[in-house]
Amino acid sequence: MRDKPQNLQLNAHGELQHLLTIEGLPREILTRILDTAAPFTEVAEREVKKLPLLRGKSVFNLFFENSTRTRTTFEIAAKRLSADVINLNINTSSTAKGETLLDTVDNLVAMQADMFVVRHAASGAPHLIAGHLANIGNRHIHVVNAGDGRHAHPTQGLLDMYTIRHYKKDFSQLTVAIIGDVLHSRVARSQIHALTILGVPEVRVIAPKTLLPSAVERMGVRVFHDMTEGLRGVDVVMTLRLQNERMQGALLPSPQEFYKSYGLTPEKLQQAKPDAIVMHPGPMNRGVEIDSVVADGAHAVILPQVTFGIAVRMAVMSMLAGG
Ligand code: CP
Repeated sequence: MRDKPQNLQLNAHGELQHLLTIEGLPREILTRILDTAAPFTEVAEREVKKLPLLRGKSVFNLFFENSTRTRTTFEIAAKRLSADVINLNINTSSTAKGETLLDTVDNLVAMQADMFVVRHAASGAPHLIAGHLANIGNRHIHVVNAGDGRHAHPTQGLLDMYTIRHYKKDFSQLTVAIIGDVLHSRVARSQIHALTILGVPEVRVIAPKTLLPSAVERMGVRVFHDMTEGLRGVDVVMTLRLQNERMQGALLPSPQEFYKSYGLTPEKLQQAKPDAIVMHPGPMNRGVEIDSVVADGAHAVILPQVTFGIAVRMAVMSMLAGG
């Protein structure tokens, strides 16, 4: 039987061994990651953007699914920590010849890997790797989930929390709305877990019924199907991409219909507080979940999210493997 993620994530001293999901992590660890990330934002302003925390370590980026932001910022973060970074090109790897995920992992273990950063279309793939490492008695290699299926995207959730804390300072008074395709979104799941663990008093989801998981209220959120009601008085607006690649069957009449009801336009955004921030994990579908005027407007902090992602990933990697 496989260990629960929590057992795999924390070592005997209660410290991070792997980062597989935000669900169930102690608030103290989330806060420590955000606090650790803060000074790393300044590394980018130095002439030599390097720290020696991962010198001599080998970080393997294993992206079995497409990525622009996550893969690149993990690579930048690892290089800023002085690690050796190996980007496995999945399309030209022996995965294409039928090698299994765990056989690939065993071969990379034999190459003295220190960390695997894993993105996979199958929910649970990073957990499978972490469980396999435990089964073969390897406590040295760390696994970071860079997005698995619709399950979790913990570093995205963490960089989103860093962004909120940067602009709003305190989680304890906030109302946060997450809009759109919650059903297929690993980002939304990680955001909801992080927001509730950090003590945000009101987390809303705004979506048509077809794009919400059943019993989503059990995650501690308030459900709205109407944008005017759901956006009223919110401090933070988090938009989500329609995840067409994960949709089975017709859950929506059309992207145009979705935009009419749930696309974030300047008019709908007026319901939020005047100083509300607008976030999006990327990649954006302009004119579907968000209007270009909002995406490029004064409320948007979408590109700062990407920049903060480097520092947050440096924090995670240094806490895991930096001693
Ligand atoms: N936010 C995010 O995961 O983007 P990528 O798919 O480009 O990594």
